[in-house]
Amino acid sequence: MTIIVTGGAGFIGSNFIFHMLQKYPQYRIVCVDKLTYAGNLSTLAPVMEEPNFRFVKLDICDKAGVQQVFEEEHPDIVVNFAAESHVDRSIEDPDIFLQTNILGTATLMNACRKYGIRRYHQVSTDEVYGDLPLDRPDLFFTENTPLHTSSPYSSSKAGADLLVLAYHRTYGLPVTISRCSNNYGPYHFPEKLIPLMIVNALHDKPLPVYGKGENVRDWLYVEDHCKAIDLIIHKGREGEVYNVGGHNEMRNIDIVKLICKELGKPESLITFVADRKGHDMRYAIDPTKIHAELGWLPETKFADGIKKTIRWYLDNRTWWETIISGEYRDYYEKMYGNR
Ligand code: NAD
Ligand code: DAU
Repeated sequence: MTIIVTGGAGFIGSNFIFHMLQKYPQYRIVCVDKLTYAGNLSTLAPVMEEPNFRFVKLDICDKAGVQQVFEEEHPDIVVNFAAESHVDRSIEDPDIFLQTNILGTATLMNACRKYGIRRYHQVSTDEVYGDLPLDRPDLFFTENTPLHTSSPYSSSKAGADLLVLAYHRTYGLPVTISRCSNNYGPYHFPEKLIPLMIVNALHDKPLPVYGKGENVRDWLYVEDHCKAIDLIIHKGREGEVYNVGGHNEMRNIDIVKLICKELGKPESLITFVADRKGHDMRYAIDPTKIHAELGWLPETKFADGIKKTIRWYLDNRTWWETIISGEYRDYYEKMYGNR
């Protein structure tokens, strides 16, 4: 079995590669990644020399390059994590989101059609459903919730999802889609809420909470997401969408306060800043389908997962200190300087 994992130098893709190499030592894993600002080759250092692992630096929009990898590797499965993934960046500059997230998906699927494939899996997001009101805790996203996006990022992901389903219906491509809630865990790029707050708190820097911090996200430990994708690519039904989430809704402000408490830092570091444009209020996944069909359930409780995550950032300072010493500084100044 050969699996192409795109975006494997990023947060979830790298965790997925570690999971697969450990669980299926007989599989060949080929990571295709452009190494954008969010991709980090040092993350993959522990597996780089494994005989059943190969890294290819490549843009998924590069048609000839993608076809060459297919000719060389004859993949059975493609799992597409490669994407521009940060909502705030998409608000500043949408173009690259359309390019990578929509056209890149099409390029990969065209290669799948040309060379044949057992499964193309699209890693999507709960953000394609838009948001839910805070005063209706009884409402959840199901796979039948209409797509209703808020940001250029989520719109590009929804566009890709529609294309994936169209390739299934029109060409019979054997596809699956997973739509997951917010992940957290090791190797999370420190522009996202949880790692940004950990890194800032460790430096006694202000903790910038958007608006009033009342927005709710449904947090899932990254390993549980990887296990869900593992199940879907092996046992999920072709043409189907699976929601992935663990009923773990938390307000942003409560997450930030918890991080302060765990690190022994004062809550006075919390600074309320201008809200994100078009900010989604609440995400909440109904994971009934993946539980009923594939037996998936999250295994890591938030109380344990957040402790493990904070421990990882304390033990792996070089990983994130290298990141925040580069281009990240300019990004931070631009995003938070006048907020
Ligand atoms: P990330 O930003 O950490 O990593 C993205 C990776 O894709 C990077 O390694 C980057 O170099 C690579 N990449 C970007 N453009 C590329 C291109 N044109 N060609 C090849 N590689 C390219 O993202 P993440 O948080 O790991 O998210 C992975 C996927 O999961 C994304 O598709 C995202 O939409 C989805 N998702 C993320 C979350 C979350 O909470 N982070 C939740 C649900 C779904
Ligand atoms: O729901 C899945 C999505 O989760 C994924 O599809 C995205 O790729 C991923 O980035 C994530 O999107 P969010 O916008 O929910 O994540 P982010 O970490 O950027 O923000 C989480 C919440 O925290 C959101 O309500 C905005 C808020 N926030 C974020 C940052 C970076 C702050 O209050 N301050 C901040 O500095």
